Amino acid sequence: MKLLEGFNWRYATKLFDPEKKVSDSEISILKEAIRLTPTSYGLQLFKVLIIKDPGLKNKLKEASYGQKQITDASHLFVFCNYLSVDNQAIDEYISLKARLEQKTPDDLKGYGNFIKQDFINRTDGQKSSYTTKQTYLALSSLLSACAELKIDACPMEGFDPDKYNQILGLSERGLNAAVIATVGYRSPADLTQFATKVRKPESSIFETI
Ligand SMILES: Cc1cc2nc3c(=O)[nH]c(=O)nc-3n(C[C@H](O)[C@H](O)[C@H](O)COP(=O)(O)O)c2cc1C
Repeated sequence: MKLLEGFNWRYATKLFDPEKKVSDSEISILKEAIRLTPTSYGLQLFKVLIIKDPGLKNKLKEASYGQKQITDASHLFVFCNYLSVDNQAIDEYISLKARLEQKTPDDLKGYGNFIKQDFINRTDGQKSSYTTKQTYLALSSLLSACAELKIDACPMEGFDPDKYNQILGLSERGLNAAVIATVGYRSPADLTQFATKVRKPESSIFETI
């Protein structure tokens, strides 16, 4: 499907067909689209939990203001940001980069120090806000990939992050539930699919200078 056809085809699905599941091979493609997402410095300071378990989805639905997408959709993606940006995370990134680029960590030491310096004066809140932003890029990759594959999705902020953190044991892992998305197939009964796309005109968004 052409890119813009996919973007017009997709919509924030309200009613999923609970019987239709996304195949493992398509989930693998969605994971790869998320993994390839560009991030600031390339640090990828997020984790994505992919939840299929009906019992767990039931609990999370309660923590999502009862939104039915959580239980009806095939899979629930929970994008979690790291609460901090510590030197260990930067060192791990430098090691990975060195290995994949066939360099030594010493070759990249200057770059690692440059990144560390950038975070030295940031508060915990600023670091968490920084990592949260990266999860939205990953969310965007997921939505675009879903549109390409004709898989339906609903991006969602309508959930209680504290409850998610508690149910999924995220805080003790230094993580926070930032944003979520349900993925599956639309129900024919979902009238939202027939709604007009509401978007500002191009002229009110763009200015070419
Ligand atoms: C970050 C984000 C959070 C959203 N949260 C919810 C939500 O909790 N529940 C919901 O039904 N839709 C949610 N939406 C869907 C938006 O309302 C929807 O994307 C927007 O109105 C544009 O419509 P469209 O996606 O159908 O084209 C969210 C969308 C985004 C991008």
